[in-house]
Amino acid sequence: MNVPVLTFFNNKGGVGKTSLIYHLAWMYSMLGKKVVVADLDPQANLTAAFLAEEKIAELWEEQQPGSSIYHCVKPLAGIGDIVKPALQEIDTGLFLIPGDVELAGFEDTLSDEWPQSMRDNNLYRPMRTLSAFGQIMQMGAQQIGADIILVDIGPNLGAINRSVLIATDYVVIPLGTDLFSLQGLRNLGPTLRSWKALWSKRMDNWNDSRESHDYDDFKLPEGKMQPIGYVCQQYSVRLERPVKAYAKWADQIPQTYRQAVLEEENPQSMKPQDDRYCLATVKHYRSLIPMGQEHRKPIFRLTPADGAIGAHANAVRDAENDFRALAGKIDDQIDA
Ligand SMILES: Nc1ncnc2c1ncn2[C@@H]1O[C@H](COP(=O)(O)OP(=O)(O)OP(=O)(O)O)[C@@H](O)[C@H]1O
Ligand SMILES: [Mg+2]
Repeated sequence: MNVPVLTFFNNKGGVGKTSLIYHLAWMYSMLGKKVVVADLDPQANLTAAFLAEEKIAELWEEQQPGSSIYHCVKPLAGIGDIVKPALQEIDTGLFLIPGDVELAGFEDTLSDEWPQSMRDNNLYRPMRTLSAFGQIMQMGAQQIGADIILVDIGPNLGAINRSVLIATDYVVIPLGTDLFSLQGLRNLGPTLRSWKALWSKRMDNWNDSRESHDYDDFKLPEGKMQPIGYVCQQYSVRLERPVKAYAKWADQIPQTYRQAVLEEENPQSMKPQDDRYCLATVKHYRSLIPMGQEHRKPIFRLTPADGAIGAHANAVRDAENDFRALAGKIDDQIDA
């Protein structure tokens, strides 16, 4: 049985994907789940949130096989095969597949293999490469008996992200509350449907091929990509706007999500707080965010010794409740 894969996806940048995945991974581990968190963004911001620079430098030099996601897939660009990931233990039940800036170079390999996977023969190699992220993440999950895999990706619709989505069961869409995010949301639904359909064709092509009988234990990810909801960011790093401007865009999200992502016709208008697909509205946590980054901790684990005193201490408690609620809402939607 495959472990469920949850990806936070939006090709609009800076909407809080990395920050959300980081905090959710910690929250799940604090709730007693075993979590594998995979950094599949070549910017590797999630890896930088979890690990010290010296450690990251060591992993990128690859003293141990499979020390970053790039080192796991690198042999595929030649004649080799996938390497099992060497998981980094962050805390009890919390393990990281480290990201790597060099992963960007794998984008071309994936783009080249995409058309090759629709040929009549010699399909194993392209299918192995296109499903590599899924195979690697499941290998990692098996090592520790994980309950869930959480994935962070970069803000684009490129070949790396398409391969990650192929390996994804559930999708959460983090959103800013501005014109650009709303416009981006309109493209996300069609993109997910198109990737799902194109992968399904490739699976059929593989299953119909003679080669598939020679590789009995080669299990392909099914490319479910089921959207389970969205998360609104109440803040904007670039724009400090009054509440009214925020509400104007936020109130259009439920309808747009239902139309673009769920293909509902004429959905009724409602506010995000009344929408069951709104999994959370994330507050502006202000100075708690840099404080957490400095101490390499989730904000809800900051203590008075870290500087979380007075109003900060209340904000720490609020943040813990917010992320506990988000984890609960996600659990209600998936079978983890
Ligand atoms: N709730 C929050 N309150 C205040 N600042 C936040 C909050 N969440 C994230 N940030 C800050 O906003 C910036 C963007 O967040 P983040 O890196 O998580 O977004 P992203 O969607 O992963 O970006 P990218 O598209 O570049 O990968 C970061 O500087 C982060 O520290
Ligand atoms: Mg990010």
